[in-house]
Amino acid sequence: MSNYNIKNLEEYFQIYRKSVREPENFWEEIAEEHFVWRKRWTNVMRWDFSKPEVAWFENGKLNITENCIDRHLHIRGDKTAILFEPNDPNEKAQHISYNELYERVCKMSNVLKEQGVEKGDRVCIYLPMIPELAVSVLACARVGAIHSVVFAGFSSNALAARINDCDCKMVITSDGSFRGPKTIDLKSIVDMALVDCPGVESVLVVKRINSEVNMKEGRDQWLQPLLDKAGSKYTAEVMDAEDPLFILYTSGSTGKPKGMVHSSAGYMVFTAYTFKNIFNYQENDVYWCTADIGWITGHSYIVYGPLANGATTVMFEGVPTYPDHGRFWEVVEKHKVTQFYTAPTAIRALAKESLAFVDKYDLTSLKVLGTVGEPINEEAWHWYNNNIGKNKSPIVDTWWQTETGGIMISPIPYVTPTTPTFATLPFIGVQLALMDEHGQELKEKQVEGRLCIKYPWPAMARTIWGDHKRYYDTYFSAFDNMYFTGDGAKRDAVGYYRITGRVDDVIIVSGHNLGTAPIEDAINEHPAVAESAIVGFPHDIKGNALYGFVILKEVGESRKPENLRKEINQQITEHIGPIAKLDKIQFVPGLPKTRSGKIMRRILRKVAAKDTSNLGDISTLLNPEVVEAIIKDAL
Ligand code: WT7
Repeated sequence: MSNYNIKNLEEYFQIYRKSVREPENFWEEIAEEHFVWRKRWTNVMRWDFSKPEVAWFENGKLNITENCIDRHLHIRGDKTAILFEPNDPNEKAQHISYNELYERVCKMSNVLKEQGVEKGDRVCIYLPMIPELAVSVLACARVGAIHSVVFAGFSSNALAARINDCDCKMVITSDGSFRGPKTIDLKSIVDMALVDCPGVESVLVVKRINSEVNMKEGRDQWLQPLLDKAGSKYTAEVMDAEDPLFILYTSGSTGKPKGMVHSSAGYMVFTAYTFKNIFNYQENDVYWCTADIGWITGHSYIVYGPLANGATTVMFEGVPTYPDHGRFWEVVEKHKVTQFYTAPTAIRALAKESLAFVDKYDLTSLKVLGTVGEPINEEAWHWYNNNIGKNKSPIVDTWWQTETGGIMISPIPYVTPTTPTFATLPFIGVQLALMDEHGQELKEKQVEGRLCIKYPWPAMARTIWGDHKRYYDTYFSAFDNMYFTGDGAKRDAVGYYRITGRVDDVIIVSGHNLGTAPIEDAINEHPAVAESAIVGFPHDIKGNALYGFVILKEVGESRKPENLRKEINQQITEHIGPIAKLDKIQFVPGLPKTRSGKIMRRILRKVAAKDTSNLGDISTLLNPEVVEAIIKDAL
């Protein structure tokens, strides 16, 4: 029986059982049959969650780009690997074949090498969704450098913090980016960031918007002339299975972002295998994931997973609302997209608009629809199912995290019967547990608890860059011998899982994972602010929006509240980026605190949600009187 392509529910259960009973045999077979290795591993897996230490395919040697590019050349060299759809619908789409991708990645690899990038060096990539982004990612992997892609919506401060945290010696960026009707000057953001980044030796600049940019002598170079001179072959560096492939930052509940480190081999095997099954990928499909490569979704399911399967993967530079709300569907029709993977927030935003934007286009090519990033509400699910899937394309509601590397809970389309709002069943090899607050596993059906994973899977992050203790503290200290996800979940009578949301201080806004602490730190830097607390509240389109409670330094602050609110959001934009701006800012005389000085966010969440009829036990508060004042002035 081939375990690579799951065809029905019975087979899913059979393969799942095998993956749990004999995980090593199971993953060894997948690794052996579906990938190319320079040298075979000597040991399939080793683990100890108390450290935590995890290794897959130990001592195996490979290069992920040989799996994503080279091995396809003789069978599908002329097939489109990357289908680039520009921001402007009048600009021609680019079909980059596997042969062309090979040449572009090899040239870029030669440029990296000539510029002094060595195996193990960190390279920061701060680019819009243009082909050079994917090419840069793959070229880093080919020369063995560790890429750290920073989403090009992050501010110069956030960029500098990420560059310095992992000591990047090079930054790859562009003059600017197109975003709907606007342009953004990325190069000047990089210039600002680099004032604080002494370790960066060189900056390579892609020309995209043809804007005037400042080139710093001895540091900055245009990329194209270097590519023109570069050789078109590059022998891939031989990497160890456990060598880091990339670092990707995610928010945490303390101020500093966490640089999640992913491995080479385990990550490759798991993203490829999940991609094949969860998107029911077939040879001539045109697969489109609308995420940005600046997030894990783009790493795993625009670049590595699809290319490892020899797929055609769409890269979209634009936004769903430009030139109008029909853009997604126009692109689906134009490229005959077969799989479409997006975020619930995008679905909710488009569902608010006229159906005429959908009905104008032929969507019959679609076979599978996907969502990711946050719980999808029932209304949005039905809108997606009825209007985009026409009740015939299964929806895969995929639950996973930056830390998990690949999809962990999801239906398999045409295999798992779906239920709206349920991510359904664990993927092959994924062993879930729901835990109660006392650290006991809830083994029965129909329970709700904290979502944990009790056995390693190949794509799990190996550490937090430079801070292994934080990796342990954040994920492995809450429950013995378990990876704790930070999410709550329910299991129903048939064993389906429904994610109920974060149980920590992370808030998911429009599918973006935002920690409260970094936002509060940014606000507190405003000279008029004494202290602040951020909570999420339900929002029609974003899922959650941010509500800030802010204590000002002096009573009788002379500036108008409206101006202060603007300045606070400006402060956040500069420190983190516009995605972290607050929808509501309430100035308060104090924050509800426990005797140990911890802010009781539970109360603030209720105020923000306009649900203050039952505040629960507030007897442990140091200052119960502020609660009343806060409720009285709630926005
Ligand atoms: C958090 C991880 C993994 C790619 C995008 C986000 C939430 C993610 C779902 C889903 C309910 C979801 C969780 C998770 N989340 N997918 N299908 N249903 N919640 O990656 O930024 O690391 O965020 O997103 O809360 O912990 P991320």
